[in-house]
Amino acid sequence: MKPPVFDYVRAGGIEEALDVLAREGGDARVIAGGQTLMAMLNMRLVRPATLVDITRIPALQHIEERDGALVVGAGVRQADLLAWPGLSAYPLLAAALPWVGHTQTRNAGTVCGSIAHADPSAELPLVLVALGGEVHLRSRRRARRVKADDFFLGTMTTARDDDEMIEAVAFPKAGGGAAFREVARRHGDFAIVACAAVVRGGKARLAVGGVADRPVARDLDGDLDAALDAFAWDLEARDDIHATARYRRELVRRIGRQVVEAAGNEHGIDTPTSPVLSAPRGGEGRSVEISSPSPPLRAGEGRGEVGRHARHERRPISFSLNGKQITGDAEPRLLLSDFLRHTLGATGTHVGCEHGVCGACTVQIDGRPRRACLTLAVQAAGCDVRTVEGLGGGGRLGPLQQAFRDHFALQCGFCTAGILMSLDALFRERPDAGENEIKEMLAGHLCRCTGYASIMRAAMAAREEPDA
Ligand code: FES
Ligand code: FES
Repeated sequence: MKPPVFDYVRAGGIEEALDVLAREGGDARVIAGGQTLMAMLNMRLVRPATLVDITRIPALQHIEERDGALVVGAGVRQADLLAWPGLSAYPLLAAALPWVGHTQTRNAGTVCGSIAHADPSAELPLVLVALGGEVHLRSRRRARRVKADDFFLGTMTTARDDDEMIEAVAFPKAGGGAAFREVARRHGDFAIVACAAVVRGGKARLAVGGVADRPVARDLDGDLDAALDAFAWDLEARDDIHATARYRRELVRRIGRQVVEAAGNEHGIDTPTSPVLSAPRGGEGRSVEISSPSPPLRAGEGRGEVGRHARHERRPISFSLNGKQITGDAEPRLLLSDFLRHTLGATGTHVGCEHGVCGACTVQIDGRPRRACLTLAVQAAGCDVRTVEGLGGGGRLGPLQQAFRDHFALQCGFCTAGILMSLDALFRERPDAGENEIKEMLAGHLCRCTGYASIMRAAMAAREEPDA
């Protein structure tokens, strides 16, 4: 599974990104964290002619409170929002974010990227709908704001036009009690059913994800059980490999009740029964046009880097690998995992699923564990990359490697390099990391033969005796 060929443009500013979208329309895709898009590319579910990388645009890196909402720029990674000191004022976001993928994918994936892809089981679109948030869109033609209820149109389908990019999303303050819960086969997987509730003034709004083709919210009225039952039946639930429609409806009743009660308790009231909160949906004001931010393109204008490169043309790449500066070149579609293994001969990084699930390819990029199979080699330019070859030294194992050896924490070793890179990053940042933090980090890795008990023992031992 490898991506198809495409051109790659690293946009230096918003206008440059918009130029490419204006020129290429639906043939171009914006990439930021790439944790969904890269998996889709690897599986060839999408075949864009051009990728526009907005990761390094400074104007998209903001997290700010504005007009009673938290406005999150398109370059903000999920991990950065989770670590933002003011997040506790947004309890629904704070509750849902740890359920979004794994630490390793949150280190790359962006908040707006999750909104843009509109997976019906994803947590952040659900939170946006529950809170009645807005998506800020921008193109060469206009800037506009679209209410969350109107933005999500169906499975991975949104109201974004081909020449528009998401510039930011706005999560309003709940203004009352809020609660989130989900059921998934494995922590970090997409939800089978997720529920988010907001209760204020004795009125409740419940949003449900994973059931219909988009997150759906309803203001609950009257008897709670009856309202939940009616909501569950009205959702267009579907059978799939993970669960039946009937099971999903039952989860809506049960988890829905739990989150409404939890949100009500947080708000200091018993189970709410009266009609609800939010502004009427639909009708006027579905999309608010803000301005016409940029003059329309004239012929030949705004090509950015597009057209300068053939799609197969190799690009120069330079980054630090385990402390040594390396230079090379690669086609834009070459994955970092393949560049490490096949171009640089750094075969300690393993490749399993190539869509971000197994964790075998995990490396550190600028100190954070990330999936090398969901990162383009060209995206690593200028970064500090660390692989398992960077542990230990002088022919000796590092303390973490030694602990794995001492505690029989590997058999075939296929998963081990990735696990070591995740744990090494954790212990560098949190030398006193507890059992739960270690488990949270290990949740992003699949080991098919050793089992996790000995891996946990090795991790705990390495934490307690960091360097022999
Ligand atoms: Fe990258 Fe499986 S997560 S190979
Ligand atoms: Fe074999 Fe983990 S040691 S997959």
